[in-house]
Amino acid sequence: MESLIKSENFLENILEKFLVETSGKLPAYIPELSKARPESFAISIVTVEGKILQAGDIKTFFTIQSIAKPLVHGLALETHGREKILNMVGLEPTGDSYNSIRLQPGSHRPYNPMVNAGALALSSLIPGENPELRFHTLQNLFERYIGHVPNFDEQVYQSEKKFGNHNRAMGYLMLNFKVLQGDVEEILDDYCKECSFLVNTTDLALIGATLANGGKNPLTQKQAIDPEYLADILSVMFTCGMYDFAGEWAYKVGIPAKSGVSGGILGVVPGKMGIGVYSPLLDSRGNSVRGIKVFQELAEILQFNIFKSSNLL
Ligand code: DON
Repeated sequence: MESLIKSENFLENILEKFLVETSGKLPAYIPELSKARPESFAISIVTVEGKILQAGDIKTFFTIQSIAKPLVHGLALETHGREKILNMVGLEPTGDSYNSIRLQPGSHRPYNPMVNAGALALSSLIPGENPELRFHTLQNLFERYIGHVPNFDEQVYQSEKKFGNHNRAMGYLMLNFKVLQGDVEEILDDYCKECSFLVNTTDLALIGATLANGGKNPLTQKQAIDPEYLADILSVMFTCGMYDFAGEWAYKVGIPAKSGVSGGILGVVPGKMGIGVYSPLLDSRGNSVRGIKVFQELAEILQFNIFKSSNLL
């Protein structure tokens, strides 16, 4: 694996191969996201030793969207402990779309922390007495993983809020079942903010490398997340991170991952590297079309599927 990623033009060749793939659609339900350049395409890898490989539009920034969900899950675990989080949000994949309004029968908990309902519930736990302090908490959270405070996209945030009635409805449904407590409008506001921070693929790869490296950022050497909670985060990413494509993803790619509707995908090869891919044309499930193809190709070439016999030794 090491010698392959050292070879010249390794990522450029993969990028070149999938440039011809132009299927998929820009997301329309948040109008601001439909303004992305459909041809944008970038791939980054950061290894646990801190080596960086990048190709394509690595200077293109996009909102992190649902890729914030594993980070907020980690924050909730660190702040409130495992027991409280498990009581609040389940661990089961939905087989439904990421914005499914269905809650678990009986408990009325959201199915898992990677779908919108689960992330909304966990957003109600972001520490901070007022919106400014909670915004600051989010900035600090991202800074730990990417080594700097990311910029914030005010337009996307406003667009998310304005067209967020589906999430709002889920918030009130969960309030009704006492799954979450507090002011739903404020919780929704925090959730929209967490989706609206700007990253590039190298930031995503660095988040992945941090999760692959026992929670320690390989560039800053700072601990971003208590290693006690790494397995909680990675296992949920593995089973639920790609929504109703999670089963096929596990079969064909075989690593924990998380996608976002702006077209990013974050992958974690535990003990080895983080991978970030960006291409904003999405399939019907809200996952980047090229992103999935790139990960399938990388899995084939680098043989990083965690169930491959060579990786189990
Ligand atoms: O809740 C929403 O609609 C978005 N802001 C985040 C959704 C998202 O990224 C789902 N991922 N594919």
